[in-house]
Amino acid sequence: MPSPRPTQLGSSLFLVTSLVALLAACRAVPAAPLATAPVAGRPAWESDNPVRPLPVPPLGSPADFAATPWVTPEKVRLGRWLFFDPRLSADGTISCASCHRPANGFSEPTAHSTGVRGQQGTRKAPPILNAAWPVYPVWFWDGRAASLAEQAKGPLANPVEMAMPLDAVVATVAARPGYRRAVAEAFGDERIDIDRIAEALAAYEATRLSGNSRADRFDAGDEAALSPAERRGRELFFGRAGCNKCHLGPGYSDARFHNLGAGWRQPTPGAPPASGFADPGRAAVTHDPRDTGAFKTPTLREVSRRAPYMHDGSLATLRDAVVHYQQGGIANPWLSPLSKPLRLDAAEIDDLVAFLVALDGEGFADAPPRSFPR
Ligand code: HEC
Ligand code: HEC
Repeated sequence: MPSPRPTQLGSSLFLVTSLVALLAACRAVPAAPLATAPVAGRPAWESDNPVRPLPVPPLGSPADFAATPWVTPEKVRLGRWLFFDPRLSADGTISCASCHRPANGFSEPTAHSTGVRGQQGTRKAPPILNAAWPVYPVWFWDGRAASLAEQAKGPLANPVEMAMPLDAVVATVAARPGYRRAVAEAFGDERIDIDRIAEALAAYEATRLSGNSRADRFDAGDEAALSPAERRGRELFFGRAGCNKCHLGPGYSDARFHNLGAGWRQPTPGAPPASGFADPGRAAVTHDPRDTGAFKTPTLREVSRRAPYMHDGSLATLRDAVVHYQQGGIANPWLSPLSKPLRLDAAEIDDLVAFLVALDGEGFADAPPRSFPR
């Protein structure tokens, strides 16, 4: 895809504004403020996951909670339980965190996801970092969800992920008085529906931030934050290697779709060319053949924590990823014109890898709650 046109920007902004307005309109009377210390008469699982203030965004993170008034501490708390709760899956074994693991920047250390009953997905779980503030409101590798909350309904019902009909998810949550109370605290009354569940999940996701990396500190003026090799890698990233044509802005992603050839296999003679991609990527959403094999640019924050790389995990290491770009991607009929061979020597490849590691920061760490609402 070419660089974003102003009209796209306009309609995206409209989408975001209307979403925010819509969500703001849904906000009910605020619940009474809750203490964070254990409260007499409240069970241990409840004091274990207290209502906490929203995090202060770390240096360099695009997070801005003033722009997301629907993210409230009470919804985040509810969403944290829901995110880690395997009872929301068909066989009680899989939660969102099975695939979006805190230690991997809320991505996973495998090429494909594994859902209920050991079923293998075909795509890798992307990281969830600074996820509520993308350049454009598109989620999933192919951009088929237009809000974080809409996105959350996908994996719940997806037969190879959590495989729960959405009304069964609602019934599971509604059957627990503890969840009913948490819903009332978050939304003003006990009504439980899939939109509230999705919004609470999205609110929790919005608090998984990434910033204060060595690269962020360098950008803020601390020259010593990057080693000489990391600094050379940074020069290449923003200069001759042109990585910032797509990995741009504070999220290191343009939220646009590009074909780099990952996943391409020469089709058997006579077969349609597009069959060279087992996964059609963005074309499955737009039905535009020009989008064949195009995937959303992922953020590069915390990238060293989530090998293997790309939508199909086809590149094992960060070095392999840089070598992929060095070669100009994998030739195929839809290769992005922005993907051209780079003339980097071995030392420059090492420098780029060093810079990518310097994008690791903080602000996302979490551990599963020790117990869940009953
Ligand atoms: C079985 C593994 C699995 C489970 C369980 C799972 N996900 Fe995912 N998640 C994925 C995969 C794979 C993708 C990419 C799918 C795609 O692009 O089609 C994804 C994509 C996402 C994205 C989009 C990220 C982006 O940058 O576009 C978000 C957000 C997300 N999941 C949140 C959740 C939430 C919330 C839950 C729980 C309700 C959940 N996931 C459960 C595997 C999983
Ligand atoms: C034309 C746009 C574009 C350019 C230029 C580009 N990238 Fe990417 N990058 C992407 C897209 C799109 C993906 C995901 C592709 C896929 O999964 O098929 C990606 C994926 C990656 C990944 C894997 C991340 C993950 O979570 O799996 C790394 C690492 C990476 N790029 C680094 C770089 C570096 C370093 C450069 C410069 C040498 C660069 N990129 C240049 C668009 C681009």
